[in-house]
Amino acid sequence: MSRIRHDGPLIVGGGLAGLSAALEAAPRKVLLVTPAPLLEACSSAWAQGGVAAALSDRDAPASHAADTVGAGAGLVEAEAARALTEDGRNTVEWLAALGAPFDRQADGGFALSLEAAHSHARVARVGGDGAGRAILSALVAAVRAAPHIEVWEDARLRGLLQGDDGAVRGAVIERRGSGARRTVEVAAPAVVLATGGAGGLFAYTTTPAALLGEGLALAWRAGAEILDPEFVQFHPTAIDVGLDPMPLATEALRGEGARLVDGEGRFLLGEAEDADLQPRDVVARAVHAARAAGVGAFLDARAIGAGFPEEFSAVFAACMRAGLDPRLDPIPVAAAAHYHMGGVVAGPDGRTSLPGLFAVGECAATGVHGANRLASNSLLEAAAFGRRTGRAAAALEAVAGPARATPAAPDLSDDQLKRLRTFMSADVGVVRDRAGLMRALAVIDELARTAGPALPLIAARLIAEAALARRESRGGHFRSDYPSTEAEAQHTRLRLSQDVPAPAFAG
Ligand code: SIN
Repeated sequence: MSRIRHDGPLIVGGGLAGLSAALEAAPRKVLLVTPAPLLEACSSAWAQGGVAAALSDRDAPASHAADTVGAGAGLVEAEAARALTEDGRNTVEWLAALGAPFDRQADGGFALSLEAAHSHARVARVGGDGAGRAILSALVAAVRAAPHIEVWEDARLRGLLQGDDGAVRGAVIERRGSGARRTVEVAAPAVVLATGGAGGLFAYTTTPAALLGEGLALAWRAGAEILDPEFVQFHPTAIDVGLDPMPLATEALRGEGARLVDGEGRFLLGEAEDADLQPRDVVARAVHAARAAGVGAFLDARAIGAGFPEEFSAVFAACMRAGLDPRLDPIPVAAAAHYHMGGVVAGPDGRTSLPGLFAVGECAATGVHGANRLASNSLLEAAAFGRRTGRAAAALEAVAGPARATPAAPDLSDDQLKRLRTFMSADVGVVRDRAGLMRALAVIDELARTAGPALPLIAARLIAEAALARRESRGGHFRSDYPSTEAEAQHTRLRLSQDVPAPAFAG
């Protein structure tokens, strides 16, 4: 184990949130660490939607904020939604100035799409369904050219360094360059978690499989407050062609007339033209029910016609790779874990409940997504709050004093992870009930007995325990044994304490 001192923010994660934070931390020196080369293994690069922002003359941040609050089923924090939506225009213009090639109208203005639950066309896209990769590519180029940023692309977060007062003073990083593993303790005045979500905990996921909620679990172990971990968003149209992770068929296809049908061609949600544009959780449950009933679920996108390859090139390529031509045949779909609304409690500037620790992007819970994220708000949040976080983290100076590393967590074997993922999708997925959640928790316990307190098990336990404790249905969390919604919306707040030394904390 070696130890280095870095005089500036240590940013963990190379998605849109981490890169935005790194760029804005200038002129402070930034050390950016990611387990895979930039542009690989982060959800932002896979995003097909775009960046939601009030960009048209008819729209306003207040309207965007109202839609964000409405989608979140009672759990969006109004002030956070205001901060996010007021940053919308600046953020899109900042990304465009860095080279993100947004689709434009003839007059040079942003071409904007309408997505479900938005009251205006306000999603800025790139090349139809290519926003994530194109935006991230622009930021990767800017990061590579920035003299203040050093990037380690073989580096996995293994622990945090904490002072006796709980303040975070650095992180334990494992590097795998040229095959040999070595561990480095990096002392730094600020650690920014931009580690992404937890979709890889589920067998059915549209996110990179390596995203196992490890940042969330480490923050919880360090004593940071965690918010609403039970809220996972399931996307209704993950393409079911036997791939893991599952390619996404963007919601925009339904906006352009694609319809959800069963194996007999019957509409899953009824004939009305806008029936398939209901909130994502409603549509996901319809897809889930059709599959559970054995009638299958398909996205019939033949109406898109000959323009499919140009308008939706990522979806088209994924289908063709699987030997399916979506111009000719309906696409088999399933509901799959897509976004984690819960996470480490953080403000718009990334500050968590622990001094020295910041969280941003999908691993954070800033209050803007509540129980159900509004489509295309995640890229906006990653960039807008990423920038604020970079500036706040850069302002911290090192604190002298001893720091201890959190005890090293074991890894799961491939078989153990497979078992966890199977039970998470079956029992902590689109439709939950007490019996299934108890079954999943028993599996998590059994795996912990053999594997030890692996971080994915801690993250899975946080999600399942909070889902068990929430005896209602709200947003992305549906309990078949508690299908109604309580009149008063309440957050779940969890924190490790002396009284609760292990992740077993259901109320
Ligand atoms: C989609 O394009 O359907 C996904 C967009 C999002 O998750 O915001």
